Amino acid sequence: MSFSRLHRGQIEKMRAAGQVAAATLARVGVALRPGMSTAAIDALVRADTARFGARPSQLGYHGFPGAVCTSRNDVACHGVPREDERLEPGDIVSVDVTSELDGYHGDTCATFFVGEPSAEARHVVDVARRCRDAGIAAVRDGARLGDVGFAMHQLARSEGCDVVRVVGGHGIGRRMHEPPHVPFFGEPGVGARLRAGMAITIEPIVTLGAPALVEDADGWTLRTEDGRLAAQFEHTVLVTRAGCEILTRC
Ligand code: MF3
Ligand code: CO
Ligand code: CO
Repeated sequence: MSFSRLHRGQIEKMRAAGQVAAATLARVGVALRPGMSTAAIDALVRADTARFGARPSQLGYHGFPGAVCTSRNDVACHGVPREDERLEPGDIVSVDVTSELDGYHGDTCATFFVGEPSAEARHVVDVARRCRDAGIAAVRDGARLGDVGFAMHQLARSEGCDVVRVVGGHGIGRRMHEPPHVPFFGEPGVGARLRAGMAITIEPIVTLGAPALVEDADGWTLRTEDGRLAAQFEHTVLVTRAGCEILTRC
């Protein structure tokens, strides 16, 4: 199976879209404080995205009601911004920004501390960031998806954590979600091969406890079944001969 590969002009557009998403995520990171509602994060993302002449890709995606996913504490992903959800000291919140500029998408997520984190919060966030970096380090022309997933899962396990199974990374380009599916686990030497010119996301969701998730009544929010913390970091990367180029680096 072969996946779409970008040519030079498209790569330039992916770089530009990635920089918009990264800049908006950074803007959110400095604005977060206790008492802020997740709806206020959404408003900030809408305003900041518009400033760049871009569009929040997630707004209306399969009916998603927000411009951004805001996933607090035990919420693993797809948290819907709400007026009545306020950030409290000690929370962690992952903010997943996807921006469309000139027909191409950039997708990036980070988990932030609100106030002083607990030791558990520090651990799961630190492991999630390192898992993303381990996944990125496994990306290169000819690498298999199983190599990338194994690198992420192996690190999570070695730190007493786990990775979510029911969602994954994805190809990205003219659409936010394109093939291939990029699991956060896998076996070395198994799975489709990455090729230079493909753009994919590396976005492990790491759980402090078990990786099983349950969906809220809103049909979007995915929480850990055991109620323990989950954290996520995401970059959009361009596969190259020697490795990859991070398109959403701030
Ligand atoms: N940005 C998310 C991802 O990393 C997409 C969430 S889809 C939404 O793939 F509809 F929930 F926004
Ligand atoms: Co994302
Ligand atoms: Co993504």
